Amino acid sequence: MKICVIGSGYVGLVAGTCFAESGNTVICVDVNQEKIEGLKQGILPIYEPGLKELVLRNSAEGRLSFTTDLASAVKESLICFIAVGTPPGEDGSADLQHVLAVAREIGRNMEGFKIIVDKSTVPVGTADKVRRAAQEELDRRGAAYEFDVVSNPEFLKEGAAIDDFMKPDRVVIGADNVRTAEIMKELYSPFMRKTNRLIVMDVHSAEMTKYAANAMLATRISFMNQIANLCERMGADVSAVREGIGSDSRIGYDFLFPGVGYGGSCFPKDVKALIKTAEECEYDFVLLKSVEEVNERQKAILIDKMIAHFSRDNGASPLAGKTIAIWGLSFKPRTDDMREAPSIVIISKLLEMGATVLAHDPEAVKEAKKIFGDRITYTSTNQYEILKGADALAIITEWNEYRNPDFERISASLTAPVIFDGRNLYNPRRMKEIGFTYHSIGRNGSAFTG
Ligand code: UDX
Repeated sequence: MKICVIGSGYVGLVAGTCFAESGNTVICVDVNQEKIEGLKQGILPIYEPGLKELVLRNSAEGRLSFTTDLASAVKESLICFIAVGTPPGEDGSADLQHVLAVAREIGRNMEGFKIIVDKSTVPVGTADKVRRAAQEELDRRGAAYEFDVVSNPEFLKEGAAIDDFMKPDRVVIGADNVRTAEIMKELYSPFMRKTNRLIVMDVHSAEMTKYAANAMLATRISFMNQIANLCERMGADVSAVREGIGSDSRIGYDFLFPGVGYGGSCFPKDVKALIKTAEECEYDFVLLKSVEEVNERQKAILIDKMIAHFSRDNGASPLAGKTIAIWGLSFKPRTDDMREAPSIVIISKLLEMGATVLAHDPEAVKEAKKIFGDRITYTSTNQYEILKGADALAIITEWNEYRNPDFERISASLTAPVIFDGRNLYNPRRMKEIGFTYHSIGRNGSAFTG
């Protein structure tokens, strides 16, 4: 099939590349000339494992191309994916200006039947707006081409994007007619296995599905973060509690890890947008408001622990003059994405309180520099170097290289063996045995849990 994907960001680039990989002819479009020139030469605007190899191969084999020329991309394609950004506006609602601008461009340039697919995460009702925007342009031209609008939300996770796209748990297609649903089914058929499902529904429900999924997952995380905080106060261990509740098949084990709060480009934005959508319908989504509030507080949980720790010997300004080494800046491992990363809140607070910050991250240093400039010291290579003379190590992102570190080296480098672990990477009992003061999230170090 001939496809164009408008917006070569995370979702657009991954989707376009994977559709090319399954044999389709795909044109990826973006307004950013520099990005397109880079992609033509195999330079990717984002880091995502495995993506570069696929881009290079499919480009070389002629199935994948890049352009800023939206008009000809639309003319040549049956299916036009809209995968541009929907950043949160000032009031938290998703800003649809880019999506609707693309819809108008499609309307201006189509010369035959088209399927317009919303791939961007957009609020319920956006497909109707896309339809109207494209139709208005057709009317202006006096043209009478037919088109359908489909909602096809994307559920991929950063860091595992290729796998998630090629082997999805499910594909959701929101369509208004059977003919278009059949074409979409055919497009996705190479990715469908016995274990996953392609679910066809009406457009509004598909739009809601994406928000409901992300809001549910964010709710699980905030719920577990509060359970963890309560465990600490009650002398219980959240890892045992997670095992205990996860064994109930209605609950399941996934997405129950407490930590420093959720970040990234989706959960924070989508939770905000759904609260806003509810407000617009005069419905007070109290539960989600709390999910968001809990998450904001959780981002500062390591700071609370540091204050408690250092106020023992440092009185009223416990972190002033302290040096804190940080492992992990990105909002999660295997990505350089710093959007809404808990590290931003933690580092800002440390600087505010007069601490010096040294940070290691294998991928996100470049992005972090855009936020903190020269206010902190960075390294992406030796994770131990930044520990020399630091008063404590704080772990914010669970990169693999932090899971089994050289504890002797950590201990010898720090002024005192103190770790604040925001991701529960180590066994509290073992840490105690090897002489560390070890703070983690919601664990009591009992003999039964690790
Ligand atoms: C998420 C959804 O998983 C994906 O389906 C959707 O398409 C986009 O949003 P992503 O943002 O890439 O994907 O990251 P994900 O791995 O889901 O993690 C989101 C955040 O939740 C991270 O900050 C992570 O650290 C945090 N998290 C996740 C927890 O704190 N605890 C958990 O148990 C799981």
